[in-house]
Amino acid sequence: MTATEQNLLSLSQLGDPAVVANPYPVLAALREASPYAVLDGALVILGRHADCSMILRDSRVSSQRSTSRLRPPDAPPRPGISFLSMDPPDHTRLRRLVSKAFTPRTVARLAPRIEAVTDELLSAAAEQSPGQLELVSQLAYPLPVRIICELLGVPATDHPRFAGWSARLAHSLQPQFMAPEENAADAAAAREEFAVYFRELIAARRADPGDDLLTDLIRAEDEGSRLTEAELISTAVLLLVAGHETTVGLIANAVLALLRHPDQLAALRADPGLATGAVEETLRYDPPVQMTARVARATIPIGELEATDGTLLLLLLAATGRDPAVYADPDRFDITRESASRPAAGHLAFAAGPHFCLGAPLARLEAATALTAFAQRVEAPELAAGGLSYKPNFNLRGPRRLLISSGGIRSTTRPPGR
Ligand code: HEM
Repeated sequence: MTATEQNLLSLSQLGDPAVVANPYPVLAALREASPYAVLDGALVILGRHADCSMILRDSRVSSQRSTSRLRPPDAPPRPGISFLSMDPPDHTRLRRLVSKAFTPRTVARLAPRIEAVTDELLSAAAEQSPGQLELVSQLAYPLPVRIICELLGVPATDHPRFAGWSARLAHSLQPQFMAPEENAADAAAAREEFAVYFRELIAARRADPGDDLLTDLIRAEDEGSRLTEAELISTAVLLLVAGHETTVGLIANAVLALLRHPDQLAALRADPGLATGAVEETLRYDPPVQMTARVARATIPIGELEATDGTLLLLLLAATGRDPAVYADPDRFDITRESASRPAAGHLAFAAGPHFCLGAPLARLEAATALTAFAQRVEAPELAAGGLSYKPNFNLRGPRRLLISSGGIRSTTRPPGR
């Protein structure tokens, strides 16, 4: 077997259920072999921090995956794509309109609500199953979902209608050349069901405006430009799906790492100020979004290689967080790790450059709040035997179930109203 065939094989292993539980040894091997080209140069794999960081910020790459040479020329156009998959000037215009409605101030105002929902969920878990906490279904999933629904102005009673659509869309976010064709068809169907749902909700908000993000998006205006109906729908779906499928993984991955490193959990319990460090360390060490892609729009030298117009660049974000060229002792989970003093050490879990995650402040706040409450309230937590299983996704990756046995959940110590 040639080195190229071997590398292609390692890449396909990322979808193996046994590897999904711990992809890091495979990712390390791919990073060390990278950058390298496969499939006659149509696909270039990047796993080094410096290479991925450079490509994410390079204006010669496109986020329109459909323009890659790997996409069959007769493939039908994908309807309903969001600005995540657009380039300037459309990307710039839409992102600016959304940023106007989704500011760090809007997010900061949510802090008391996020604390209240977290406390409520932990208290409900204490009542439902004393001595046991199923972290995903009882905290990590419902917290971001409730917050994004409330923020957008999606009625909680509608949630059962679209929870499944979101999971189907997330499943389709695997790189297309690694995912079966039926995923694309299923995602298209889910996207259409979402569109029907949001079309009705947008009509209702136009008739009766609310104090919510959807109403703000309907109103958002910038230099005379507004979101069209199709843009409004694709943006609402993007925010809802991002709020469903990523922060869940961040909270669950962080709690799992803390359970596996009891000294770090003890440190967090002793000093709640370490919650921010725990969130950043999890984003580096075990990020919820494992990879993303760009398409070269020009000849771009990457190390010894040259990507040419149409080359798909697969960026293994999860491999960059453990790059020994950037992080000392990269496989060690350390919530006190100093990276602020070394700007180059910033992780790429939220990407970088023009598509840097718009929801990062929200995800950080939700995760820090959940970890603080977990460390303060859950007594003597331990991973239950057989209590961990993973979703099949290797891109939006994270536990499906994380069962924790505990000595009980303390009642909240926060003053009422906070
Ligand atoms: C831990 C949680 C999260 C992670 C790890 C994450 C990760 C990412 C990454 C890697 C990208 C860039 C993708 C690319 O360019 O290829 C991205 C973009 C984006 N994220 Fe997040 N995300 C998270 C949470 C959220 C939340 C909660 C929201 C909003 C509710 C959100 C909204 C967005 C949006 C709108 C974009 C597109 C930005 C653009 O294209 O300009 N994300 N996110």
